[in-house]
Amino acid sequence: MAHSILVFYGSYRRDRKGIRLANFVVTQLRAREDEAELIDAQAIGLPMLDRMYKEYASGAAPAVMESLAGKIRDADAFVFVTGEYNWGVQPGLKNLTDHFLEEWFWRPAGVVSYSAGRIGGVRSGLAWRDTLSEMGMVVISSTLAVGPIEQTLDERGEPIGELGNGLMKAFPRFADDLAWWTEAAKAQRQHKAPPY
Ligand SMILES: Cc1cc2nc3c(=O)[nH]c(=O)nc-3n(C[C@H](O)[C@H](O)[C@H](O)COP(=O)(O)O)c2cc1C
Repeated sequence: MAHSILVFYGSYRRDRKGIRLANFVVTQLRAREDEAELIDAQAIGLPMLDRMYKEYASGAAPAVMESLAGKIRDADAFVFVTGEYNWGVQPGLKNLTDHFLEEWFWRPAGVVSYSAGRIGGVRSGLAWRDTLSEMGMVVISSTLAVGPIEQTLDERGEPIGELGNGLMKAFPRFADDLAWWTEAAKAQRQHKAPPY
């Protein structure tokens, strides 16, 4: 059964490279018949956090925030595509996620990291695990760490060379893991209402 999966990406750099990986993830999920949608923090353009979504009176949140809250609530699962800035997370993506809390609860999330170098942004991936867990998601065990990003995916997000092949081989296990937890969480939500 098709799962509704939001794929988050949050670099605001004009020369950003991680968009290749975000597009790759969306394409690969769609090839598995999932309903994947890219949520590009830069395109959405939430301001630096002032009020969280829930701090607005009902119906008073900016339209773009209201729309994103609805998408997050309706999704079955999430993928966070994260680059690494000085061993930490990218502020644009962190800013977007901090606008919401309860909207994330009771669904699985997968982390896909990347960087310009061979380490593939794993340090930011590790940081995101704790953050996503705090925000009420169940973070799956499988991860993907992609690097060097420019030697793995071309500008259209197509795999290139040996590194691209390696990513193609690794992707199904990541996606299978996410799908299993997505189905498990969905079945459990139907069986029993979340406790809070
Ligand atoms: C401010 C900044 C800090 C960075 N810090 C790291 C780092 O800690 N580790 C790393 O592997 N790459 C680092 N890089 C290189 C990034 O991996 C590379 O620029 C990557 O393409 C950034 O993602 P983006 O292009 O989607 O913005 C840094 C880049 C910038 C701009």
